[in-house]
Amino acid sequence: MDGSNAMAAPAVLILLGPPGAGKGTQARKLTDRFGLVQLSTGDLLRAAVAEGTEAGKQAEAVMKAGGLVSDDIVIAILRDRMSQPDCAAGVILDGFPRTAGQARALDSLLAESGQEIAAAISLEVDDAAMVERVSGRYTCAKCGEGYHDSFKQPETAGVCDVCGSTEFKRRPDDNADAVATRLEAYHAETAPLIAYYSDQGVLKTVDAMADIDSVSDRMAGIVQDAFA
Ligand code: AP5
Repeated sequence: MDGSNAMAAPAVLILLGPPGAGKGTQARKLTDRFGLVQLSTGDLLRAAVAEGTEAGKQAEAVMKAGGLVSDDIVIAILRDRMSQPDCAAGVILDGFPRTAGQARALDSLLAESGQEIAAAISLEVDDAAMVERVSGRYTCAKCGEGYHDSFKQPETAGVCDVCGSTEFKRRPDDNADAVATRLEAYHAETAPLIAYYSDQGVLKTVDAMADIDSVSDRMAGIVQDAFA
């Protein structure tokens, strides 16, 4: 593989990390570089909330407060998305699994579909820095390109670099109280999965306090090795 082509075989890449670690940022870069599909359970849940589905109605208040949505809802949404044809060539799981129950459900799902976990990458960061990253974050309301008050402003102030839109938005759970709850949920429920994937022999760790491009280069190296 030369690092610029689509993957040859179906495989699953898991991104683990607290809020603001850079899971979404890095998943988009890996998608561009390797042709894998980004599957963010946060994005799927926000879409369900926006559409007013039953799952979305149940998830909305929990998400706004920074808690974890129930395994039943998240697993059903993930299973549905992974059954779609564009996921057959491989996916990057951004924000899933987050609990032991979700990790076991993923193992079962992959066993059924004949896919394997190529790597579980843990993005390692300081909690304090995460609060700054998340609270300064905003996105283009039209194309979803991500920006940050301190770290990544549009080249022309107020104009999206990608699509030229002048409308931007911030997430309702990117406030101090909800971020604190999200960090607590990460440490209580998700951090134990680092040992789970270490035991499976697929864990890789990345210093995600480095700048975005350095993190991206390190992750691309891991992906190339994992799929070699
Ligand atoms: P979700 O949408 O997954 O949010 P999250 O995990 O809290 O993660 P974020 O999107 O906040 O951060 P990120 O790691 O993607 O960082 P980003 O790249 O944006 O989940 C939201 C909610 O949905 C959950 O709280 C829960 O309620 C529910 N949910 C979702 N999945 C669930 C599941 N499986 N089970 C149960 N509930 C679930 O980067 C952040 C900012 O930092 C950006 O501005 C970026 O530009 C900047 N940045 C990134 N990397 C760097 C860097 N290296 N240096 C400097 N700045 C950087």
